[in-house]
Amino acid sequence: MKVVKEVSVMQEISDYHRSTGRKIAFVPTMGYLHEGHASLMFSAKETGGIVVASIFVNPTQFGKGEDFDKYPRDFRRDAHICEKAGVDYIFHPEASEMYSNRPLTSVTVKEISDKLEGKFRPGHFTGVATVVAKLINIVKPHTMHMGSKDAQQNAVLKKMISDLNFDTKLVICQTVREENGLAMSSRNTYLTAEQRENAGSLYRILNEGMRQITEEKATDAEAVKARAADLLKELSPGIELQYYEITDNELLEPIPDPGSFKGEILISLAAKCGTTRLIDNIIFENNPKG
Ligand code: PAJ
Repeated sequence: MKVVKEVSVMQEISDYHRSTGRKIAFVPTMGYLHEGHASLMFSAKETGGIVVASIFVNPTQFGKGEDFDKYPRDFRRDAHICEKAGVDYIFHPEASEMYSNRPLTSVTVKEISDKLEGKFRPGHFTGVATVVAKLINIVKPHTMHMGSKDAQQNAVLKKMISDLNFDTKLVICQTVREENGLAMSSRNTYLTAEQRENAGSLYRILNEGMRQITEEKATDAEAVKARAADLLKELSPGIELQYYEITDNELLEPIPDPGSFKGEILISLAAKCGTTRLIDNIIFENNPKG
């Protein structure tokens, strides 16, 4: 496994492998890796191609007052996880390498970026779309492997790839969870043991929403949302729900009558657990007749 820090060197390596007919599978990350990230690396490995993982805490996707400075970082530990997962190259640039010469260009995926997370984190998805566009141009991957955990990020990037004709296929992998249902996240290190236990309730209320829609054919999204909020209060009163929304999984439009909706439904949420902000979601196919 090699660690690459320069953009031009990474591009040369990718050109070389492409010229020999190899496929390149890419896993973009911000490091502090866990089993969720490793599952993406295994998915990348399954393509049979060269596996590139990036580790870069991207400053432009953090808002003022967010956790950029305290975001956990441990490169040695991350490198060990990458090596065990069969990664061939880690792309690990400095911010000065990624954002040299005062950039004047950014990528904004309109509408999708302003909903859900976008309301709480203005500008976040422009930071994400721009850095991922840059990473695609640097790593030149055939496939990019990402987790369902960040459903809105996936919707934004899917639209960017399609609108800008990037020649990279997005492969979405399932969310890896702790035993109590809590989605694994680098930010879980901020939680106390008790908060971590309580945060399992978030997955419970997502499943309850799915159950009401698929089994009870719930016709009123507002009632499903209210039931979820009540259940969370009952199970884990210390957790404060910021949003719990029922939308389609493409443009993230609200679905007022989910029981009658045919297609893929996304229920997504954000919640504050003490000072830590957590996001999670559940995605399922709904068939009103089934
Ligand atoms: P990061 O939060 O490190 O996540 C990197 C990838 O790991 C994302 O595709 C995310 O969905 C996936 N992931 C995180 N937790 C997961 C879990 N429990 N199960 C499965 N996959 C999981 O997302 C980012 O970094 C950044 O925004 C990035 C795309 C790298 C751009 O800076």
